[in-house]
Amino acid sequence: MSELGDLIRKMPKLEMHIHIEGTFDKKMVCRLAESQGIPLPKPEESLFSFNGLSDFLSMLDWNCSLVRDKETVRELARHFAEYASDEGIVYTEVIVNPSHWKNIGIGDLVGGLIEGFDEAQEKGLPDCRILVSLRREQELDSASKIVDWVLSNRHPRVVGLSIDGNEELSAVSNQKFAPLFAKCKAAGLGITVHAGESSGPEGVVEALDLLGADRIDHGVRSVESPELMRRLHDERIPLDVCFSSNILCDLYTPEAHPIKKLYDSGILVNASTDDPHLFQISLTDELERIALQFGFSIKDLLAMQYNALEAVFCDEGEKQAIRRKLDEFRNTIA
Ligand code: ADE
Ligand code: ZN
Repeated sequence: MSELGDLIRKMPKLEMHIHIEGTFDKKMVCRLAESQGIPLPKPEESLFSFNGLSDFLSMLDWNCSLVRDKETVRELARHFAEYASDEGIVYTEVIVNPSHWKNIGIGDLVGGLIEGFDEAQEKGLPDCRILVSLRREQELDSASKIVDWVLSNRHPRVVGLSIDGNEELSAVSNQKFAPLFAKCKAAGLGITVHAGESSGPEGVVEALDLLGADRIDHGVRSVESPELMRRLHDERIPLDVCFSSNILCDLYTPEAHPIKKLYDSGILVNASTDDPHLFQISLTDELERIALQFGFSIKDLLAMQYNALEAVFCDEGEKQAIRRKLDEFRNTIA
């Protein structure tokens, strides 16, 4: 391993943009399909191949439809926490989107994640929080049911409301969902919005103005608007940027990706993986990859961890504990 790779591995890390739907590994998908007598939609070797964002989201639907009980969700949660620990992740907020999970209700889904993450943390594995997500393409009625469930089952592990999916297919979704976001914000939940991926800068502006986003998942297409870049900088809005995901979903070539431009302009950029197992990229690999592509130093990559700390939705005391870990590492590289 390179010297930089070794330092990245040792650095305490925060993963701010990750979907539990993207953490299935092939072995688990094959095992679940086989035990239910369901044929694989593609040969095993190409099971996680896809063609653009819409195809990718359909693949998530298929994987998630294999989960029918809380115990399997707990297994997925524990499995993810072990991965996070191996990666040196000290804190993460994991998105779960109930609309992908056709065969399990929200109570068992979010309940299974809470139990799995609790068990993992009791064993000394990292602190994994939950963001419940709506889907752009979803009907208002089913989105309202999700929000009602979240608000009537408040739990300290569930720290925010999110929205993901394909904005290209549903440009009007911000207006439609705005009252649900306002309700959650008023109840003290953090708000994070996928925008500036399948939408342009206008999607990011709407996320801020209509949905009250505290941070933006992706947000990379903000580079197309100097005015928005200034706003993100001045209002200290964090962007949870996923370089490899954007390349694999054909948004940019590696050379044209704007992460360096966004970072150099002083916006609070952090680097995340989106769907690590399906994209076959760990957070450590992701950080090494952007360092090699753009010349980021370990100090830059650490600065991204401090940026991520500004994006978290946990309490101030927990934030201070994470800050101490980052400071400790900073002293070793000074
Ligand atoms: N759900 C999982 N990954 C996603 C992405 N990159 N964009 C939108 N929704 C998603
Ligand atoms: Zn995402």
